Amino acid sequence: MGMRATGDLLIHIDPNAGDTLQRQIYYGVRRAILTGLIKPGARLPSSRVLAADLGVCRTTSLLALEQLIAEGYIATRPGSGTYVAPDLPDDLPRIRQARPRLTTRHPPLSARASALADLKPRAWRLHGPPRPFRVGTPAVDLLPVALWSQLTSRRLRSAGPAQFDYGEWPPLREAIAAHLQSARGTQCSADQIVIVAGAQSGLDLMARLLLDPGDTAWMEEPGYTGARAALVGAGARIVPVPVDVDGLDVEAGVRRARHARLAYVTPSHQFPLGVVMSLARRLALLKWANAAEAWVLEDDYDSEFRHGTRPLACLHGMDVDARVIYLGTFSKTLFPTLRLGFVVVPLDLRDRLVAARRALDFQPPVLNQAVLADFLAEGHYERHLRRMRAVYRERLEAMMAAAERFCGGVLRIRPVLTGLHAVADLDGVDAERVSQEAITRGTEAMPLSLYFGSGPTSANGLVLGFAPVRPEDSADGMRRLAASIEAAQSSRGHAPTAERVVRA
Ligand SMILES: Cc1ncc(COP(=O)(O)O)c(C=O)c1O
Repeated sequence: MGMRATGDLLIHIDPNAGDTLQRQIYYGVRRAILTGLIKPGARLPSSRVLAADLGVCRTTSLLALEQLIAEGYIATRPGSGTYVAPDLPDDLPRIRQARPRLTTRHPPLSARASALADLKPRAWRLHGPPRPFRVGTPAVDLLPVALWSQLTSRRLRSAGPAQFDYGEWPPLREAIAAHLQSARGTQCSADQIVIVAGAQSGLDLMARLLLDPGDTAWMEEPGYTGARAALVGAGARIVPVPVDVDGLDVEAGVRRARHARLAYVTPSHQFPLGVVMSLARRLALLKWANAAEAWVLEDDYDSEFRHGTRPLACLHGMDVDARVIYLGTFSKTLFPTLRLGFVVVPLDLRDRLVAARRALDFQPPVLNQAVLADFLAEGHYERHLRRMRAVYRERLEAMMAAAERFCGGVLRIRPVLTGLHAVADLDGVDAERVSQEAITRGTEAMPLSLYFGSGPTSANGLVLGFAPVRPEDSADGMRRLAASIEAAQSSRGHAPTAERVVRA
């Protein structure tokens, strides 16, 4: 039903629409004002006339007008009726009638956002559940979901008003400090721990709080794209430092930028090459950091999974001069959507860092923190890690066997000592092309070149995640990868289509 009210007001009301009649009148009058149909100072029909014209009861039209008065669109003059507010500007912004105008041109993003948006994508991912051989995803098919849900409901049931107010969850920091001491060979007090929304948030936070725009930072080359992005976001001048079998080449770093303010490293399991930083290099890095008064940002993302032997102690545990800032995440040991990680900061800077951080965000949701704290304190975390170590050994072996069977001769997987992914060298076929072919066949295999920040590279390899792949699915994944290699050898390859691929 469409109805025309007195004067220039053109209001359509429909008793069968989802909205109440009162709201339809409110929106009708508001639209007439904002689109310039009726001008500031123009007289409006009274609520009685409006009600009669539109066939609604008087209270309905009265309440609609009262709402418009309260919001300042219209005003009453005693004794003479209701008018469009006279102080509204003549050139009111045109409101959206239906959909946003596609022709609107906004000014460009900030230089910082533009630099971030121009970065290479972190990965080419297919939609849906993890596929063979997705990098960075743990065994999310084996999560203790029932237990997690039990702990969550227990926490929710026992939560009082304090748990719903602004505040933190100190027991998580206590539990993490205890875990670091027993499992990662480093000591820190719970006060030194800052809870963040995953390692990415910690990287961003530390880059922003420790660096000024233009400050120099060493970045592993190849290295973790997320860390590079955080440094770009902070406006750092990034100096790529090569990685060899012993990890970051400290001497090369010193030659290239002796006075850098920060070095980003993954000593326990270099991302993506998988090497472990040698003791000599660890000592050299600490020595340089101390002499240069620089920070070392240690990203210990998947160190808990060493295949065959005990995990190695972290760099933070060797640092007597408090130069190392340690970054931990539960994305690999539990699951990435948990979005919980932590940063271990020097005690003397803790209060200033926490105060500065408050301007950016407070902390991740406390309910998740409380559940995780219980998970750690009650021994479930240790049990889960033990179980996962066996699972990952099995998955790694299944992938190696499948690679040998289907891709033997072309794909040479480098020894895997630790972590959740492998690096494989390719002979006689371009890795980027293989990666593109793989994604059209429902398989993910990241080209090693994706992780180089300083331009074209001669590295011709693939990074293959085995952690999310059930042993029984490895053969199928490798068969598809073998077909992708064959296709890449014989065709020109084509870029993956945007519809199928999520750039993560
Ligand atoms: C080197 C490295 N650091 C950190 C992370 C974890 O990131 P987040 O904790 O933000 O999920 C990843 C994940 O892929 C990674 O590869």
